[in-house]
Amino acid sequence: MHSIKKITDDLVWVGANDRRLAMFEGVYSVPGGVSYNSYLLLDEKTVLFDTVDKAVSGRFHENLAYALAGRQLDYLVVQHMEPDHSSVLKELIAWYPSVKIVCNAKAHTLINQFLDLDVNAWVVKENDTLDTGRHTLKFIMTPMVHWPEVLVTYDSADKILFSADAFGTFGALNGAIFADEVDFNKDYMDEARRYYANIVGKYGTQVQALLNKVSAFAVEMICPLHGFVWREKLSDIITKYALWSGYQPEENGVMIAYASVYGNTENAAEILASKLRDKGIKAVMFDVSVTPASEIVAAAFRWSHLVFASTTYNAGIFVSMEDLLNDLVSHNIQNRTVAIIENGSWAATSGGLIREKLEKNKKNSSLEQMVSIKSGIKAPQLYELEAMAAAIAADFPHSAPGAGSIDGGEAASIDPAAMFKLSYGLFVLTAKDGQKDNGCIINTAIQITSSPLRISIAVNKANFTHDIIAKTGAFNVSILAESAPFRIFEQFGFQSGRSSDKFDGCGYEDRTANGIRFVPEHTNSVISARVSDSYDYGSHTLFIADVTQSIVLSGETSITYQYYSKNTKPKPKPPQDGKKGFVCKVCGYLHEGESLPADIICPLCKHGAVDFEPA
Ligand code: FEO
Repeated sequence: MHSIKKITDDLVWVGANDRRLAMFEGVYSVPGGVSYNSYLLLDEKTVLFDTVDKAVSGRFHENLAYALAGRQLDYLVVQHMEPDHSSVLKELIAWYPSVKIVCNAKAHTLINQFLDLDVNAWVVKENDTLDTGRHTLKFIMTPMVHWPEVLVTYDSADKILFSADAFGTFGALNGAIFADEVDFNKDYMDEARRYYANIVGKYGTQVQALLNKVSAFAVEMICPLHGFVWREKLSDIITKYALWSGYQPEENGVMIAYASVYGNTENAAEILASKLRDKGIKAVMFDVSVTPASEIVAAAFRWSHLVFASTTYNAGIFVSMEDLLNDLVSHNIQNRTVAIIENGSWAATSGGLIREKLEKNKKNSSLEQMVSIKSGIKAPQLYELEAMAAAIAADFPHSAPGAGSIDGGEAASIDPAAMFKLSYGLFVLTAKDGQKDNGCIINTAIQITSSPLRISIAVNKANFTHDIIAKTGAFNVSILAESAPFRIFEQFGFQSGRSSDKFDGCGYEDRTANGIRFVPEHTNSVISARVSDSYDYGSHTLFIADVTQSIVLSGETSITYQYYSKNTKPKPKPPQDGKKGFVCKVCGYLHEGESLPADIICPLCKHGAVDFEPA
């Protein structure tokens, strides 16, 4: 009996779930099963996007026939020729003999290779389109995500991206079809990461090319070949892809993978984990002889620091550890700080060999400290493990030594006016929580590194936008130009998003790929970013974030704080009736009174006492 899912008024999921598959691709365990997604578009013409694995062909046939309800199948778009999506193709042609196959040249060759079938296909190229009535489908070539013939399809009518293997997830669908129907972050993100790292992890450059190409389109729904359809919070998965494909860690923390025969190497790994936790550093541990390599590869894509602890075996690396390292290197893991613990009762060699393997990926760096154990841990190795924990801690950005007092002991004077000599830009910072869009004005966006491309913003905690970013981890920075009128500063700076709609009446409907609005006028560029770290500095939070998208909108000169003060901001009115007061240098708000409260926060722009001057 059929079991289909409605996606939109004219798009239906006709795929099937498989919970009996022991090993996906013969390598990866799938304890939660897997879904093979096939989508049927019921426009004036009918279009099927990919088929399914042979194992579920019966259910697929029933689903497709039911969804077609007697109509002919006009087109089959072959986005990916891996057999889990194409092995039913021959049968499909027998069921619907007039179906037209749409594929690219590489897929055409693979159809013949796999199925011994010389189909009369429409061979499409980059940006070719297919009009089906209400919909126009554009074909975009995305080779090596995950095979060379892969293409994805963009439906401009409903802003749907049919993304082939990209944005897929291990795990059967269990009755749901949309990612927002389940607790994806809690229940499925680990499997999405494991799918990504193991299936397409090697092809980060190609995934980035895909992200780049689709960033040109407004995407409101993503339909992958495995796992859930994304119709809300697309940025949740897109930003993960931006991090994973750039081989950037998602979280600061240490993954310790160990191979231990008699427990002594494990003991060293446990001691190190304990010392790291004592320093407030997260640590996760895996016994490589027990945990499937696919889980450890996925964890390596998640964490910033990797420790490998291995006994020496047959004068080399212990067998399960060697397999894991080969896997990690072939999946291109990079940009990681690595530390090594070796054990050897008479000739320890595993440490040097591990280092050699991992440094094949040049962007990994190994800590100098290697702990070498002879059979069991003695006092010197305890000190070495402590030193390793300290070296790892020192490598964490927020554990850098504090800025101590100035030598010499003299009290240094601070003139707040010096701060105004710094050159600041002005930006509209926007974020989104569910259906709520919000924005505020900041002057604190700066680039901090170019590789990875990373920025920082400091945001006052009184701003509602601050809370949204702390919750969602995503934001846009619209870089304002000199032409920006005062009304934009009023709109985003002088009212609270908690009690008003900051976008009300401005007509700014455009969104970037992360789903967040931006300011499309008087703005020369917009940058989307995903928070990778944050630091609490009392009144403000400093967010460190990876750039996920950047768009140049015009060649206008960026506005500076000084330009705004001189040219944009209306001149403050002097206090009436000879009253004394203090004026906010940022927005012009007048505080009347003989003295300025030290803890004043400007009710309009949220700046503190340092930004007031006598009126
Ligand atoms: Fe599920 Fe690369 O195929």
